[in-house]
Amino acid sequence: MTTTTAGDPATISPELLPCLTAAIAAPSIHNTQPWRFRVRHNVVDVFADRGRQLAVLDPDGRALAVSVGAAVFNLRAALLAHGHLPVLTLLPDRGEPDLLARVVAGAAVAPPYAARRLAGAIPHRHSNRRPFASSRVPDSVADDLRAAAVAEGTRLLIADDPLGEGILSVVRTAENRRRDDPDYLVELAAWTGAERGRRDGVPPVAYAPRDPDERLPLRDFGLAHPVRHGWPAAGIDQPTVAVLYTDGDDLRAWLHAGQALERVLLTATAEGLQSTLMTQPLEYPELRALFEDSATNRIAQAIIRFGYGREAPASPRRPLAGFLI
Ligand SMILES: Cc1cc2nc3c(=O)[nH]c(=O)nc-3n(C[C@H](O)[C@H](O)[C@H](O)COP(=O)(O)O)c2cc1C
Repeated sequence: MTTTTAGDPATISPELLPCLTAAIAAPSIHNTQPWRFRVRHNVVDVFADRGRQLAVLDPDGRALAVSVGAAVFNLRAALLAHGHLPVLTLLPDRGEPDLLARVVAGAAVAPPYAARRLAGAIPHRHSNRRPFASSRVPDSVADDLRAAAVAEGTRLLIADDPLGEGILSVVRTAENRRRDDPDYLVELAAWTGAERGRRDGVPPVAYAPRDPDERLPLRDFGLAHPVRHGWPAAGIDQPTVAVLYTDGDDLRAWLHAGQALERVLLTATAEGLQSTLMTQPLEYPELRALFEDSATNRIAQAIIRFGYGREAPASPRRPLAGFLI
């Protein structure tokens, strides 16, 4: 790999550039894109951008770290798909607490088919808050989703219908609490809306319309800046709901959760599935505790809805230069 200096994308090696572009396509809480990169030679240091942490929704920085983990997974997948073995170290330097991961573009390898497939799915994975045509996930696809989680040291529980109903009712409780939380609404207002030229936050085109029957309690991004929708609320379909679990609940576990989440979402995308996150209950300790598996000490890190439907529009990303240190 050729030598690079940090700061200006024009100085980054042509082999690394598409991999960084892939990294910033990762999902992030409220599309905050809370990551920064320091690139030296073939080493990419991935930092948390604490200025983008959501103080109300995410006081501990868990959702921020999950988001950074997702970007790290994209970086790894893209490097491998471009023929470089990614070598990952989480939290490589105690002296730099916001340095969450170091990814080295290692030895040249023949790109494995699986990595090319996942990397190829990155531009097609979008949070889809529209109704799905069908939500029945075939067993073989469900097996692939579970295997994707296991490959990153986590577990994915795909709920059957009764359990799915129970999970949705907890999500509904959380979403209703959110509606009555003025601090949340102020924070949400800052990350939503139709500001021209804005390249972060959730744009109106990605909002879910409010479902008056509250059957599918997707996060209502239109609470602060309501918009009219050209499609119905997604509540008509019975969704497939899954929960992603880690063994621990510290910064390292959150980074694993983010990588696993993105691997699961990209596997789903590659299989033609659409997905939506519904993480509202995980923001309330007492609701999150309802998901805890006390026998195994597993902690819930994400709740996901899967189904089949048309690809949703992409949400914007800031230009790469803005992420470089
Ligand atoms: C940790 C985390 C939590 C999220 N929680 C929700 C959620 O509760 N509801 C939702 O609709 N989207 C949720 N998202 C998805 C983000 O809103 C989405 O990734 C972001 O707006 C960028 O859009 P994209 O996924 O289409 O690229 C979450 C994403 C992450 C990483």
